[in-house]
Amino acid sequence: PAPNHFITTADYSADQLLNLVDRAIQLKVQSKYQHPAPQAQAPLAGKTLALLFSKLSTRTRVATETSMAYLGGHAMFLGSRDIQLGTNESLTDTSRVISSMVDGIMARVGEHAEIELLAKESNVPVINALSAKYHPTQILADLMTLHEHIHHRQQGVKDQYTAHQQHPRETLSGLKVAWVGDGNNILQEMLVSFPKLGINLSAACPIGYECDQDVIDIAIKDSEKTKAELTFTNDPQVAIKDADIVVTDTWISMGQEEEKATRLSDFAGYQVTMDMVNKAGAKPDWAFMHCLPRKQEEVDDEVFYSNRSLVFPEAENRKWTIMAVIDALLVKGRIE
Ligand code: CP
Ligand code: NVA
Repeated sequence: PAPNHFITTADYSADQLLNLVDRAIQLKVQSKYQHPAPQAQAPLAGKTLALLFSKLSTRTRVATETSMAYLGGHAMFLGSRDIQLGTNESLTDTSRVISSMVDGIMARVGEHAEIELLAKESNVPVINALSAKYHPTQILADLMTLHEHIHHRQQGVKDQYTAHQQHPRETLSGLKVAWVGDGNNILQEMLVSFPKLGINLSAACPIGYECDQDVIDIAIKDSEKTKAELTFTNDPQVAIKDADIVVTDTWISMGQEEEKATRLSDFAGYQVTMDMVNKAGAKPDWAFMHCLPRKQEEVDDEVFYSNRSLVFPEAENRKWTIMAVIDALLVKGRIE
């Protein structure tokens, strides 16, 4: 049978995504808070995950390598200078060869077609570690972070980790998330998952930087089923009104470096500041998220380092959610 891959959250149901988040929370409690005391176990002993990265990475790489270590397996990092990744050898040949020797592949690519081709030719599960179109493991971490944030807000507990006592189904539905920025891989991954989960999403992108139509179509279809609200605008103020969460990302994604000057001018007025969010009328207890890496231009220090900012727990949660995906695909064999 064809292996199970994790290419985009669009391929999975709301229950499957929530179960991954719930599993990530269990893994965090077990590994970080030693609850229950972890038994010596190495479910991936002798197994290897190849990391094929044609772009830079801090979080995704560290999250994946440490997850493999925790599960007793080996992570083999192969950057674009290490192997013949699509330059001197085709992706088809690379995928067939590598997948004949390893138990899983995690790949960070340019065009989305590259990850689809790798998956098609692979005999083992392939995880998308970011493509120009989608970034599924980031959005799992965002869901986990939203769950923890809402749980703590509702329960008023701060000094103790209790988020594992509640299922994310109960916290996420009905939230309003406002995106202010580029119609990029992060927003597109939110669009194919948030409406399905009943999370209201309003996105402000400058004219000419909107999302792909096929992605918007998925979001609209999902939102019709769940009645989640979906708003597209070119005005950050409109998007932010009544939001629980304000999110942004870099204006210049990896591979777009040559467009920097044009983008900086086209995104004028999009920097997230306290003044901007307060004027727009977000909820009084609004919080801020960003997948990182971050630049000053899209969000100023006052917001980024404030107590409204969830960016560092969000970065840490990359580890627990990636561990949950590896646990599903490599230990259990499927996403349940
Ligand atoms: N958010 C994210 O994917 O970070 P890295 O590029 O550092 O992996
Ligand atoms: N949109 C960014 C995300 C980085 C994690 C990029 O693709 O470079």
